[in-house]
Amino acid sequence: MASPASSSNTLASKPSKLLRELLASGRPILYIMTAEEQRIARLLSEGAQHFFAAPVLYWSWSLTEGLVCSNGTKPEYDTANPRAALDFIANYQGAALFHLKDFHESLHEAVVVRRLRDLYQLCFGQNKYIVISSPIRFIPEEISRNIVYIELTVPDFNEIKAYLEEQAATIVITGVPVDTSESTMVHMTRALQGLTIDEAGFALRRAVAETGRLGMESLPVLFEEKRLLVNRSGTIQYIAEGGNIELVGGLEVMKKWLLERRQLFLMRDSIGAELVPKGVLVMGVSGCGKSLSIKAVASCFELPLYRIDMTEIFSGRHGNPEWAFARACRTMEAIAPAVVWFDEIEMGITSSESSGEQGRIFAFFLTWMQEKVRGLFVAATANRIDLLPAEMIRKGRFDEVFFVDLPMDEERIEILNIHLRRRGIDPAGFGVERLTKLTKGWTGAECEQCVVSAVTRAKLEEREVTLEDLLRTAGNIVPLSKTMKEQVDHIRSWARDRAAPASLGDFR
Ligand SMILES: Nc1ncnc2c1ncn2[C@@H]1O[C@H](COP(=O)(O)OP(=O)(O)OP(=O)(O)O)[C@@H](O)[C@H]1O
Ligand SMILES: [Mg+2]
Repeated sequence: MASPASSSNTLASKPSKLLRELLASGRPILYIMTAEEQRIARLLSEGAQHFFAAPVLYWSWSLTEGLVCSNGTKPEYDTANPRAALDFIANYQGAALFHLKDFHESLHEAVVVRRLRDLYQLCFGQNKYIVISSPIRFIPEEISRNIVYIELTVPDFNEIKAYLEEQAATIVITGVPVDTSESTMVHMTRALQGLTIDEAGFALRRAVAETGRLGMESLPVLFEEKRLLVNRSGTIQYIAEGGNIELVGGLEVMKKWLLERRQLFLMRDSIGAELVPKGVLVMGVSGCGKSLSIKAVASCFELPLYRIDMTEIFSGRHGNPEWAFARACRTMEAIAPAVVWFDEIEMGITSSESSGEQGRIFAFFLTWMQEKVRGLFVAATANRIDLLPAEMIRKGRFDEVFFVDLPMDEERIEILNIHLRRRGIDPAGFGVERLTKLTKGWTGAECEQCVVSAVTRAKLEEREVTLEDLLRTAGNIVPLSKTMKEQVDHIRSWARDRAAPASLGDFR
């Protein structure tokens, strides 16, 4: 095989490797679903140079241009007609890669479908390959056996980095200062991961426009652009707001566990696959810090956080839920390294006995958890744990299953202190301990609410907040554990034997 030259990074990308494997296995016709036509054209034209024992010619076809070779030549006759293009390929002598853009439209014609089936035979073993690219999937039944179908997910690290290096070189020429040091390039690549090539281009232009240069100072702009663009996709949300493990009160057992896993996760490329942390399932009473902990995990692991919205997946707005779910998972693999958060996972994954869609999604999820790339840490949260199938909770799927209970005495004091501090109030000497009894059975969210109400009241009266304010607001709060006692008790008794407690000791 020819040695990959300057484009080695793109050739090392996942889609490039996949294309190489599929073509090397001798399959003459591929169908790639992607909205990124230029990107696939680039992957293929590079592939034509490097995938084969010797470079082959790259031809592209469109309904407006007909066939055009990368060396500039065109067939002697007009090939804009799809049938004529296929005839040209049939008679073509020698090795070549033919890229048919938006050919799905032509597949509505019986004569084209028939000719394509002939071509399958004619190209087989001849080093002639046909790649159809289209933003939608349309493969007539009679030809589906002859065609290999793949979906192109967003570009991975290597592909984005190659693109960034190319763009950096062009930007420098315009006189804009660019920091091309390896570590800055890696940081910028990470910031752009999750975007398509076109979107990455927009983000870079916006960064240059706003900061007048390209370097570490561009990162906030890139992250902001990413938040806007990724969230538009509907099923995956990029969570820009970072967490901090210092802001999580209590939950000592879980925090210690996470800090240990962090070490292993950072060493993921140099240790055995079975040692690399796969993920954590956090279940428990609403408002006790599940979401907060997941945000802390991402910042602790120094990774971006993405949330997969199960409600959106099941809304039907993104196609068949099964496909939408699988696509979201595959997209996340391309975005890795990252923390992927399935919030309220019980919304989509209930009992495995459940028939149809939900059962299939569950089966897919379990396999995916086993096979997914090392750089993805899965964090799942659930409230209605009793809805989750036993296989999900069993050891081996997740590295650990934690139960977040109502906070204990000291934990509530810590949470109150954290929230006072977050609002610029020094809790030392405040005497928050006096709230211990009054707050029994409260969730973390209720502790926060108490602080917020007290601070607001003091602000309105234009004075400093006092312990009295806290005591007074505390007296007015009726906790969830009282109003929904049965439900909370049910969750707690159910989880106690099935999950590891996230805190030391036991709430009573
Ligand atoms: N242990 C905690 N330490 C500090 N703050 C907490 C804690 N638990 C809850 N809070 C506060 O309560 C808010 C709500 O908590 P969070 O969203 O993490 O709860 P949750 O368990 O995800 O609830 P839900 O099941 O309703 O999604 C947090 O934003 C945080 O401010
Ligand atoms: Mg939550």
